[in-house]
Amino acid sequence: MRVGIVGCGGMGGVHANKYAQMDGVEVWAFDIDTERLDSFVEQRGALRATSLTDLFGAVDAVDVCLPTTVHMDVVLRAMDSQKPTLVEKPMARTVEECQAMIDSSRANRTMLVPAHVVRFFPEFQAAHRVIANGEIGEPASVRLRRGGGAPKADWFLDIEKSGGILLDLAVHEFDWLNWTLGTPKLVCSRSVRLGNTVEGTEFRGDYALTTITYESGCVAHVESTWMDPGGFRVTIEAMGSGGAVEYDSRVNSTLRVSGGATENNYASGDDPYFRQLTAFLKAVSGESEPAVTAEEGMLAVAVAQAAIESATTGQPVSL
Ligand SMILES: NC(=O)c1ccc[n+]([C@@H]2O[C@H](COP(=O)([O-])OP(=O)(O)OC[C@H]3O[C@@H](n4cnc5c(N)ncnc54)[C@H](O)[C@@H]3O)[C@@H](O)[C@H]2O)c1
Repeated sequence: MRVGIVGCGGMGGVHANKYAQMDGVEVWAFDIDTERLDSFVEQRGALRATSLTDLFGAVDAVDVCLPTTVHMDVVLRAMDSQKPTLVEKPMARTVEECQAMIDSSRANRTMLVPAHVVRFFPEFQAAHRVIANGEIGEPASVRLRRGGGAPKADWFLDIEKSGGILLDLAVHEFDWLNWTLGTPKLVCSRSVRLGNTVEGTEFRGDYALTTITYESGCVAHVESTWMDPGGFRVTIEAMGSGGAVEYDSRVNSTLRVSGGATENNYASGDDPYFRQLTAFLKAVSGESEPAVTAEEGMLAVAVAQAAIESATTGQPVSL
């Protein structure tokens, strides 16, 4: 299997490391920043493509690890070249862009898979299974929390480019909730940046709190932060008519190191990114269906877009 990574930044590196642990996978890479491309090729042992056209001609599947605003253009070109494609979350900057990508995937009969890695984290997979199997009875509330400090690259903090915290970070939770609880109906959100813009003040991070009411009546709370100096933390707390399920990465981290940081010490076969990419390659080779559909990727973006609108206007938004 020959896979072409487009975008040799943070996520391109994570994906390349995982492909390097798989048998029979050859990695090609392309980036508009030629210095970055050169050092990526040297460090990761990838093959160098000189353009997108060159890359698409050399590979069986494409893995898009680009800033969010560029996802649509590159995915549309990959679809036209009939290359099955994995695209990093969020699937695109807007619902309209997601729809154009889905239309092209259908017209070209070419697979498009959004990379919602949270579904491959063992803790989130277990919590999903417990709730979906009815082990906590009828779910009444689900509280999720994700975050730490602000991302380093500036484009993440530009709402036009990344969608800000409600699209870039909270989309992880929005997808997991839709997968676990069904159809979202009403979204209310507040964010430090969108709700409290004071002239002359530039927040380096953001904090947002979103509630989503599901068709079943279950209420979800999503807390997202890029303003926690205490380090990265993820929590799950779900309650239902017959029980509860809880997880806190600070209490049950796979490994804690000094300064409160946590490190991933999953065995390579259990690593969520490894499992996500393995599932994608199995879907490309026809051994299984994709784990996440493009329509689910678009629904997660729709919830994020509604949250941005709600945080901007101060009003709840119906989906
Ligand atoms: N799943 C996760 O856990 C996770 C974590 C972080 C980021 N992400 C997502 O991954 C995506 C990439 O984020 P990142 O942190 O790797 O960004 P990054 O800024 O570190 O890297 C992006 C790379 O894309 C290159 N690039 C930009 N425009 C290009 C173009 N038109 N053609 C080719 N190359 C181009 C840049 O030169 C850069 O090397 C984003 O959508 C982000 O939201 C996912």
